[in-house]
Amino acid sequence: MLVLWFKALHLIAMVAWFAGMFYMFRLFVYHVENRDRPEVTALLKIMAERLYRYITTPAMIATFVFGIAMLVVNPGYLKLGWMHLKWVLVFGLAGYHGFVGVTRRRFAADDIRLTSKQCRILNEVPTLFLIAIVLLAVLRPNFF
Ligand code: HEM
Repeated sequence: MLVLWFKALHLIAMVAWFAGMFYMFRLFVYHVENRDRPEVTALLKIMAERLYRYITTPAMIATFVFGIAMLVVNPGYLKLGWMHLKWVLVFGLAGYHGFVGVTRRRFAADDIRLTSKQCRILNEVPTLFLIAIVLLAVLRPNFF
């Protein structure tokens, strides 16, 4: 029963984490395209900081905490091959999260190294992780 509560909280936190990651690079697209309008970029900097600091990062931490809580309650998950592959992907996703944070700090300092097209492409990266991780977690393939 406890594990089901952890799973529900894990999924709620995961949705909030992705909501943040899906929007951060969109804000950076607007920032690049309005780089000559400081009144616009000032607002975008505040939006990016609050979204990252108060939603995206805490939601990532909560996803990890409730995921790990399920492993503690049910250590059998540690033996499953698909779960190991999921961790590799989750590790990659956490790396992307870190990259978003570095990019946010650079944009806040008007140190813009990306084009708007690059930001649009980078905005699609979490979609690929979402599809791969959810397919793994739900279909639980046993090919390894
Ligand atoms: C440290 C990170 C994570 C750990 C330790 C973890 C661990 C777990 C565990 C133990 C379960 C229960 C599996 C089951 O009942 O069969 C689970 C379920 C799930 N996780 Fe994670 N998870 C992590 C990150 C993520 C992320 C980033 C996503 C989404 C992109 C995700 C999506 C899911 C989904 C959709 C389920 C439900 C699967 C089902 O019941 O069919 N998890 N997770």
